[in-house]
Amino acid sequence: MLAHLTSAVVLLGATLAATTAATVEPLSFAISATSQNVQFAAPPDANNATQIIAFLHAASTTGVAVNGTRQVSGTFAVTGSYCKPTTARVRGILQVLVHGATYDKTLWSGLGQGARYDYRGYANAAGYHTLALDRLGHGSSPQHPDPVAVNQAQLQLEILHRVLAAVRSNRSNRSNALGRSFAKIVYVGHSLGSFLGAAIARTYPADADALVLTGYSTAFTTAAIAAQTYAPGALFSPSRFGSALPLGYVVTAVEAERSRNGGAFYGGAFDTDVARADFARQDTAGAGEFASLPGLLLGGAGGGTAADAYAGAVFVATGQLDAAFCVPTAGRTCADILQATGESFPRARAYKYYAPADTGHVLSLHYSAPATFRAVHEFLDGVL
Ligand SMILES: *[C@@H]1O[C@H](CO)[C@@H](O)[C@H](O)[C@H]1NC(C)=O
Ligand SMILES: *[C@@H]1O[C@H](CO)[C@@H](O)[C@H](O)[C@H]1NC(C)=O
Ligand SMILES: *[C@@H]1O[C@H](CO)[C@@H](O)[C@H](O)[C@H]1NC(C)=O
Ligand SMILES: *[C@@H]1O[C@H](CO)[C@@H](O)[C@H](O)[C@H]1NC(C)=O
Repeated sequence: MLAHLTSAVVLLGATLAATTAATVEPLSFAISATSQNVQFAAPPDANNATQIIAFLHAASTTGVAVNGTRQVSGTFAVTGSYCKPTTARVRGILQVLVHGATYDKTLWSGLGQGARYDYRGYANAAGYHTLALDRLGHGSSPQHPDPVAVNQAQLQLEILHRVLAAVRSNRSNRSNALGRSFAKIVYVGHSLGSFLGAAIARTYPADADALVLTGYSTAFTTAAIAAQTYAPGALFSPSRFGSALPLGYVVTAVEAERSRNGGAFYGGAFDTDVARADFARQDTAGAGEFASLPGLLLGGAGGGTAADAYAGAVFVATGQLDAAFCVPTAGRTCADILQATGESFPRARAYKYYAPADTGHVLSLHYSAPATFRAVHEFLDGVL
């Protein structure tokens, strides 16, 4: 009994010590949005896992046929964590953090794997406010709309646009869950979150004063993603995801594939315990948010149209061993790929890239993470 009590006190002490660093305010935005989604020509049967996995595989290899568009509207609850700067040198700038596929907002605090991987903590210590969001259908997001027809990349783009407008507008706006407004906003994405950031620069160029796109380039290759084995979260881990989660929300199903050196997520120098925790703590990916990327966000072959009207600053950080975004081809290095990515932001007032060595796709969970965090903030401090 006494032993239990003592360990409870120790645990409480540890929790307090961890939270004095940054106060995490959970919040939820109520966002009304309308999107022109794509209509897939041959969508999978929502109750047939075999068809859903085949659809996802087709999306990451041959692509899936689209037959027109379909308008989707609704009010969506967007959950997030707001943290204030933890230093006296406060900057009135908000970083909005948007995770990639099979992650949620906890990616930005390193999935709880230690300060080395804590991007949010680094940003707060550098004087920035942060708002880490769960994309629709992920993390603590209460809604899990149809993962094929409704929860598509274009809808997520429209929702993010509305969140950015809400946090820019004054506190009397009921949509602004922050209760304060920011005149300067940095959009920070990872992977699918970076695709969405680049699309925001093309579609709503006034939304972000700076873009930080991590795990990203305009030379996206899908072989490493297609090589993963996927399974519906509801069948793979009903205790975590609930057996009622629509089958189109999938997880990577084989730990050795996900945490492998040279696979879609990891490469070079990283802690295998972190890669294992990443597998255990992964969130889902929606079949439709992935399958809808080519038509609506990439604007066709070759990585998409340019953000011609975007005048903010852009920083791209992508690992040299990123198996999806920095695969060298004959005569074209990772540095060449990231240099060329800058061409899709022709009017950006600054463009810079950073390519950490010995680092794979989920760069914030590699040993080089602190150097990446430093490079991002040196850039932001210089341009904002
Ligand atoms: C596309 O949609 C139209 C209208 O709903 C339908 O008539 C046509 O058969 C569809 N084509 C394909 C290839 O699915
Ligand atoms: C699921 O789809 C597959 C492939 O189309 C089909 O062979 C199978 O019979 C379907 N299963 C059920 C239960 O409908
Ligand atoms: C209030 O926030 C909503 C949601 O983003 C936005 O669409 C709207 O423009 C904002 N209103 C004002 C007056 O800024
Ligand atoms: C907040 O924004 C609304 C809509 O733009 C405006 O009518 C109102 O005066 C603003 N309130 C303050 C305190 O600035």
